[in-house]
Amino acid sequence: MFPNTHSLFVWCLAAWLEVEGANLPSRPKPIVVSQCPPSNAGIPLDSFVSFSFELSSWPDFAVPHFLMIKHRDIAIFDASQKTGLIGVIRPNISADYPTIITIGPSFFDSYKTMPKGMRYTHGFNLGANYSASRAATFASAAYACKAIGENLDYWEYGNEPDLFHASGYRPLNYSDADYVAEWLNGTSQIDQVVKSACPSLKGTKFMAPSMAGVGANGYNTLDPVKVFADDLNADHSIGIISSHNYMGVSTFPGITLQGTLMNHTNVIAKAEAQVNVSRNIAALGGDLAPKVPFILGEHNSLARQGRPGLSNTFGAALWGVDWNLYLASQNISRSHMHQGTNYRYQSWQPIQTNLTTKGTKPPYYGNLAVAAMMAKPSTSSVLQITHLEASSQNTSFYTAHINDTLSRILIVDLHTYNTTANNYTTGFSRPVVEHEFMLPKGCKGGDVQRLMANGSDAVTGITWDANSYAYELDNGKGVRMSNVTCGEKVKVDGKGIVKVQVPWSSAAIVSLDC
Ligand SMILES: *[C@@H]1O[C@H](CO)[C@@H](O)[C@H](O)[C@H]1NC(C)=O
Ligand SMILES: *[C@@H]1O[C@H](CO)[C@@H](O)[C@H](O)[C@H]1NC(C)=O
Ligand SMILES: *[C@@H]1O[C@H](CO)[C@@H](O)[C@H](O)[C@H]1NC(C)=O
Ligand SMILES: *[C@@H]1O[C@H](CO)[C@@H](O)[C@H](O)[C@H]1NC(C)=O
Ligand SMILES: *[C@@H]1O[C@H](CO)[C@@H](O)[C@H](O)[C@H]1NC(C)=O
Ligand SMILES: *[C@@H]1O[C@H](CO)[C@@H](O)[C@H](O)[C@H]1NC(C)=O
Ligand SMILES: *[C@@H]1O[C@H](CO)[C@@H](O)[C@H](O)[C@H]1NC(C)=O
Ligand SMILES: *[C@@H]1O[C@H](CO)[C@@H](O)[C@H](O)[C@H]1NC(C)=O
Ligand SMILES: *[C@@H]1O[C@H](CO)[C@@H](O)[C@H](O)[C@H]1NC(C)=O
Ligand SMILES: *[C@@H]1O[C@H](CO)[C@@H](O)[C@H](O)[C@H]1NC(C)=O
Ligand SMILES: *[C@@H]1O[C@H](CO)[C@@H](O)[C@H](O)[C@H]1NC(C)=O
Ligand SMILES: *[C@@H]1O[C@H](CO)[C@@H](O)[C@H](O)[C@H]1NC(C)=O
Repeated sequence: MFPNTHSLFVWCLAAWLEVEGANLPSRPKPIVVSQCPPSNAGIPLDSFVSFSFELSSWPDFAVPHFLMIKHRDIAIFDASQKTGLIGVIRPNISADYPTIITIGPSFFDSYKTMPKGMRYTHGFNLGANYSASRAATFASAAYACKAIGENLDYWEYGNEPDLFHASGYRPLNYSDADYVAEWLNGTSQIDQVVKSACPSLKGTKFMAPSMAGVGANGYNTLDPVKVFADDLNADHSIGIISSHNYMGVSTFPGITLQGTLMNHTNVIAKAEAQVNVSRNIAALGGDLAPKVPFILGEHNSLARQGRPGLSNTFGAALWGVDWNLYLASQNISRSHMHQGTNYRYQSWQPIQTNLTTKGTKPPYYGNLAVAAMMAKPSTSSVLQITHLEASSQNTSFYTAHINDTLSRILIVDLHTYNTTANNYTTGFSRPVVEHEFMLPKGCKGGDVQRLMANGSDAVTGITWDANSYAYELDNGKGVRMSNVTCGEKVKVDGKGIVKVQVPWSSAAIVSLDC
């Protein structure tokens, strides 16, 4: 479409000047959206929204689904075990997942249930380091590489090593240098096993260091930047840098939907701490800093599996949309949303249990909206995501450009609207905010798709583009809901402005015809 970058630049500059010179109405001020992406727009990896799985839940989740997978944990391999996974739950540590886990060879069959083209990262145990458990971990690499084969993306060795002290695996004096030495030793042994069991996968790189925190603070005892300064990259075996994130801890006081999740200022603050880590690693320079993408290899709303009434609500889905788009705009290149059986923040519950009904959960609808905003017409197309300055604590705006052409606008309204507390009997009907965008010359209008529910506290009746993905309707396939409008279009007026109405606690994507 554009003959060369020089003429593209001149063309973009002209578009800007035209906007600057335009006679804008004084109230309300339209948000100016440019035809060309700013030079600092984020460029995400494909399959931006991916998932990570608690290792002990993986056999439950290993039924065909979509996007990309990783998982990790502390589990001991036992080649003689007939069952795939044996987990012992110790309620005094966590009621949600087993903390004594052994896996047998058939565990790896779970990798074969997914459609072709699915890419995996398998996590090996580093926490338990008795010589027998270390030997078992290295032995398991042969089974893992044979089962995953060409679908292998990366390996991971060790999950949240900065919490090894807190979880009783290492003494308080466990240092960054100790971790680096163990990691280099173990990854080199894993590679040797893979080399003989699966020669074509020799040299597969690792995802690391997968820390829970962004620095040492007494509880988190390692620092992700210091381990790179201590030459974690000595063998040049790191293919992707991974960090973990939660917006807060579900069991801590003071956590609310509005203050913790549906709070764009908080989203920026938490993302900034991660971007800071990536910047500080890159600043080490030379061979210390691998020149590879920085991702969130595990994250979700609230640590310790989420809080009921918050993490499983529609408000958490809206948080997920804002958070994922903001990450992408800042070059946090991929996002693995963590999943586990019975977890409150899960996107879906894969099996029926006595704690949770099998089915699609509100956060899943947020995943769909993010995927729609970040969809690429082909893998060779270049997608750029920009966070607009006009965003405030309660409303965020993003644009998607494809091949340097403005393609979509996303509006996320983060005012909570609680259907119980703010219902019509209290006389507080749901506010609708009208947003105006000044579009580049030549844009005609767009199609609107909405992420909608009755309120931020809703746990059912959620729709994306008027479709329900409820398990009970059609096994989780999209079903058009007749009580929700769809097919909405907006038109650019004579001044180049398009108006979009967005109710509190909802999100809208406008796919532009520019
Ligand atoms: C994101 O990465 C692209 C490509 O390297 C770069 O041009 C852009 O400035 C980066 N933006 C931010 C916010 O880091
Ligand atoms: C949890 O309880 C088990 C016995 O059920 C005990 O052996 C273990 O030490 C306890 N762990 C913690 C961290 O309290
Ligand atoms: C296991 O961890 C301890 C504590 O850091 C360390 O002293 C020991 O060397 C480790 N063992 C191996 C085999 O790496
Ligand atoms: C670290 O602590 C362990 C156990 O508390 C102790 O045995 C070891 O000597 C300490 N190591 C160093 C280097 O101080
Ligand atoms: C790893 O450490 C063990 C014991 O600490 C040692 O015997 C082995 O040679 C080391 N392997 C590599 C590849 O560094
Ligand atoms: C939103 O988050 C910011 C930053 O963490 C915090 O200062 C502010 O109090 C939060 N807002 C609400 C309504 O809690
Ligand atoms: C960024 O990193 C520097 C250096 O480690 C640290 O001093 C600063 O507090 C960090 N800032 C944020 C926002 O995390
Ligand atoms: C719920 O199911 C678990 C696992 O199958 C079982 O151990 C537990 O006893 C059950 N609890 C109740 C209250 O039925
Ligand atoms: C974007 O550009 C790439 C490379 O030139 C091309 O392969 C792709 O088809 C383009 N995508 C669109 C939507 O035009
Ligand atoms: C509406 O809100 C009021 C005040 O919070 C509450 O008493 C009432 O039960 C709510 N009604 C419904 C239908 O949720
Ligand atoms: C919604 O309001 C009700 C009644 O005030 C309250 O119990 C509930 O916690 C609120 N839900 C959310 C998600 O804020
Ligand atoms: C539409 O109908 C479904 C199923 O009957 C319900 O759950 C949902 O809340 C309704 N949506 C609206 C916006 O009324």
